[in-house]
Amino acid sequence: MDLLGSDVLEDERYLVPAVPHGAGGLAWLRASVPRFCDGPPHARRRALVDALLAGLEVGPATGGEPTAVLLRALGLPARCAPDVALVAAAYQPHAPQSADADAAADRLVARCGRRDEETAARICVLVQAHGALGALATARRDGATGPPVPTTRRVAPSGRTVEVDLTGAPFGRGRHACPGRALTEVLAP
Ligand code: HEM
Repeated sequence: MDLLGSDVLEDERYLVPAVPHGAGGLAWLRASVPRFCDGPPHARRRALVDALLAGLEVGPATGGEPTAVLLRALGLPARCAPDVALVAAAYQPHAPQSADADAAADRLVARCGRRDEETAARICVLVQAHGALGALATARRDGATGPPVPTTRRVAPSGRTVEVDLTGAPFGRGRHACPGRALTEVLAP
């Protein structure tokens, strides 16, 4: 796969890889979050995530493991953390999928109470934070200096899927840039 520079993240012709509609599990989650869509659905779902994060009260004093801290801040029990981890491992469409991960996603939806885009926003915040903060912890442990999430993917105007190098842009760029940057400084200073 071609490896392109992060400037393509600011080029509107490069789209996130599309995901199929799904009624449940990871397929429903991916089809309902900002991460895997563009255009008006992205703007609408991204606004839900931004509003959710703006209202979160998370401080270093809360202490504990970041996923448990975020669960509590979102009004969910910390014992949901293993389900967040299962979903995070299968979140990317090219990651290994499993019935266990689908069941975990459905349990988190049930715990949130409704299957809608607000629930998807809560779950995607948990899942994206879990994956990225886990990668950051591993990078710090290993003394690695590059971006904790080294690459992302886009579909080029030609229709080919390309990899995008996040060196120099660890939180991405453009319309999909990470909304969790400020929270990262609180949760993992
Ligand atoms: C070390 C910490 C983190 C890193 C390096 C990181 C990195 C990234 C990157 C590179 C993207 C853009 C992906 C792309 O354009 O293809 C992204 C998106 C995203 N991140 Fe983070 N992230 C981190 C922490 C967090 C946290 C703590 C949260 C939530 C509280 C979060 C929530 C999100 C969400 C919801 C998106 C999707 C935004 C969209 O598609 O509009 N991230 N992150």
